[in-house]
Amino acid sequence: MTKALEDIRILDMTHVQSGPTCTQLLAWFGADVIKVERPGIGDITRGQLRDIPDVDSLYFTMLNANKRSITLNTKTDKGRAIFTKLIETCDVMIENFAPGALDRMGFNWQRIQEINPRMIYASVKGFGPGPYENCKVYENVAQCTGGSASTTGFGDGPPVVTGAQIGDTGTGLNLALGIITALYHREKTGKGQRVECAMQDGVLNLCRVKLRDQQRLAHGPLKEYPQFPHGTFTDEVPRAGHASGGGQPGHVVKCAHSGPHPGEHGAHGANDYAYVIIQPQGWEPLMKIVGREDLIDDPEWATPEARLTKLDDCFALIEGWTITKDKFEVMEILNEHEIPCGPILSMKELAEEPSLRKTGTVVEVDHPERGKYLTVGNPIKLSDSPTDVERSPLLGEHTEEILRDVVGLSDQEIKDAREEGAI
Ligand SMILES: CC(C)(COP(=O)(O)OP(=O)(O)OC[C@H]1O[C@@H](n2cnc3c(N)ncnc32)[C@H](O)[C@@H]1OP(=O)(O)O)[C@@H](O)C(=O)NCCC(=O)NCCS
Repeated sequence: MTKALEDIRILDMTHVQSGPTCTQLLAWFGADVIKVERPGIGDITRGQLRDIPDVDSLYFTMLNANKRSITLNTKTDKGRAIFTKLIETCDVMIENFAPGALDRMGFNWQRIQEINPRMIYASVKGFGPGPYENCKVYENVAQCTGGSASTTGFGDGPPVVTGAQIGDTGTGLNLALGIITALYHREKTGKGQRVECAMQDGVLNLCRVKLRDQQRLAHGPLKEYPQFPHGTFTDEVPRAGHASGGGQPGHVVKCAHSGPHPGEHGAHGANDYAYVIIQPQGWEPLMKIVGREDLIDDPEWATPEARLTKLDDCFALIEGWTITKDKFEVMEILNEHEIPCGPILSMKELAEEPSLRKTGTVVEVDHPERGKYLTVGNPIKLSDSPTDVERSPLLGEHTEEILRDVVGLSDQEIKDAREEGAI
């Protein structure tokens, strides 16, 4: 079956997470992704957080599937000449170096356009133009500067970062969309263009509802926040704890233990919780389930407005029932009444979930050096361009085939490049 992007060739200069997550996605849609890495070192993540000595880390293997790897020192003369040829033959070039690094290699946007006017040049930086434009940025810095940390955590505690990589993988998704849009635009204009995504912008985009709340604050307290009944608001959006960011209140509630019994291996219960949302129409069935039919029509409890001052009490009532069921039973019973809820699933439970294996969202891949490992597959499913997840490349695994077939070098030229240390 043909793949959606199979005639698109990508010059992938990315490293760490934000860029690689974008190019992995494009590779899954069928693009030929050529990952350029420094000879001998490669993407730094190959050696970070290693679980097995001298074997590419899971950090690397889970972000670089379906790519080809070429080692190339772009700071040597031959390396620069090869790099120029790659720019000529590729459709898209992607990098997430620190600001200025590509210019220092001698390839700024103007030079890239001279070499290939159809080139789409996409980059991730920590910040857009402004006071911090020259700064290096990692995931948690983006979470902190993009509004996520200040609004995450509990009201009386410090800012909290989330495990979801909203700065890195989130920005990688934005970049992929920008690139596909630019490719579509090129169909009409024949010209390439620049695609720039700042991690701060990406995080703020995901925190849109919090900028909404900042403006609502000017007109009074945020009634759905846990601070409301206590009147503790400043002029800044507070941390909302477990409160829902939407119009319907929700909260984490404790459940009975599921899985091994106390004392048995694996019996910890750290994730014996569920998240429950109270839609207006959900109040009646919820109160029937928890055995408080008397509150269904009680004016002190019956309307969403009346409940705003006592959301803690509402969820305490619900928790009084959930504590008697495990989180999967809670999910089953509440969904029979169309009450939105979800068990708090651990990474262990997600890794073992058969339905995610079936859809290709969790995939087992075989690697020549590490053996079998799990990865997260393509979260976007296309009916006519299905994703086949292939293992990540070894460092420089495809150097010679790319130099021969894409760059057009002879065996002697490849030998010379190797002797000069360019590859
Ligand atoms: C992530 C980040 C902080 C890492 O910083 P770093 O490890 O110091 O790496 P840099 O990006 O500065 O690049 C390192 C150097 O390697 C060089 N290099 C990379 N690939 C090379 C190659 N194939 N040949 C020769 N040199 C190469 C770069 O030119 C740069 O050299 P220079 O600084 O002397 O010009 C930084 O790249 C960054 O801020 N990126 C943008 C935001 C981003 O994507 N962050 C999230 C990452 S998940």
